[in-house]
Amino acid sequence: MNNNIRNNPTLQILHLEDSAQDHELVKRELQRSGAQFEITRVETMQGFDSTLNRTRFDVVLADYRLPGFTALDAWQLMKDKGERTPFILLSGAIGESAAVAAIQTGISDYLPKEDMGKLGRVVERAIEMHRIQLEKEVADLDLAASEQRLSNFAEHLQATIEQERTAIAREIHDDIGGSLAAIRFDLSWISRHTTDKSTLLHLGAANDMLSHALDASQRIMMNLRPAVLDQGLVAAVEWLADGFSRRTSIPATVRSPQSLHHLPKAVQLTAYRTAQEALTNISKYAQCSQVKIELSDAEEVLTLEITDNGLGIHDQDLAKKTSFGIRGLKERARTVGGWLDVSSQLGQGTSIILSIPFQTPSIDQDGDDNP
Ligand SMILES: Nc1ncnc2c1ncn2[C@@H]1O[C@H](COP(=O)(O)OP(=O)(O)O)[C@@H](O)[C@H]1O
Ligand SMILES: [Mg+2]
Repeated sequence: MNNNIRNNPTLQILHLEDSAQDHELVKRELQRSGAQFEITRVETMQGFDSTLNRTRFDVVLADYRLPGFTALDAWQLMKDKGERTPFILLSGAIGESAAVAAIQTGISDYLPKEDMGKLGRVVERAIEMHRIQLEKEVADLDLAASEQRLSNFAEHLQATIEQERTAIAREIHDDIGGSLAAIRFDLSWISRHTTDKSTLLHLGAANDMLSHALDASQRIMMNLRPAVLDQGLVAAVEWLADGFSRRTSIPATVRSPQSLHHLPKAVQLTAYRTAQEALTNISKYAQCSQVKIELSDAEEVLTLEITDNGLGIHDQDLAKKTSFGIRGLKERARTVGGWLDVSSQLGQGTSIILSIPFQTPSIDQDGDDNP
């Protein structure tokens, strides 16, 4: 046995054994290995149970056949109690298949009595494995908690962004929209009250600029708060596809059922923003000649698939430190109980697939009407 166990505080060992002679043998072996230990022997199930209740042990050593029960019954009892102390089966003649079956039930190790010389090492290994397992569980829990915090933060950030967008859209509508409407009113008043040619010429130019400003504010508002979503997700996605085709001259087809299952606002907005970001990415990077968008609500899952036949995405593209588009979509999908898959083949194109099962209990059914 190495220094590890020798330097450790005294090991508490519980020995399930009906033969006093075998118990002495085990003690001798442990002493020989240099371990510091205290060992308690019990022979009955009841004794085993009550001793476990009283004392914490570092390891249990158990003979296989005991009066009226076997080590596996004892192991089961420990499992039922939620007691996870390492459990080593120490026995002669149970046969290899019984030993394998025992290990498969989750006991830590099996040592035939004729190999008793290895006891120290086997005990040490079982305790070490147990310690590693516990540490791993703590690390896993820490990781899960940290992922949860990150995901909550992303959700909060997303909601804040949508609220900000709504507020900005409202200001553009009320302030800029209001002012532009007033300017139009005044321009038309002036045009009715003048016959001066050069004034009319300037009025024409002012009206053109005004139309341009109105279009721009409409467009900006639409991007900030997709009012088109009020007409449903299908209409909104078609509107996005049309705009994309007009801007890029790349045909984009939308396939969808006539109408979709009633979807919470938060889900619609997630799907909308996914299509929007996917199309933006396509226009920036894909260099494709064709885009297909498919919406479906079959089998209680909303799926939205945006496929291009362009260059495809490298794994390292997705890992770019400063790229948050697709990462953000993944987080966003998660906040409504869904997920996002990216499937791509270099030179063949890319598919972005959003899936959101219906009626995820954590979603507020009608959303918060953020946008
Ligand atoms: N449809 C696409 N075709 C080819 N490459 C793409 C496509 N979409 C995304 N990419 C690549 O993946 C990267 C990450 O995209 P994204 O997460 O949206 O971040 P960003 O657009 O800010 O770079 C892009 O920089 C680009 O290299
Ligand atoms: Mg992007």
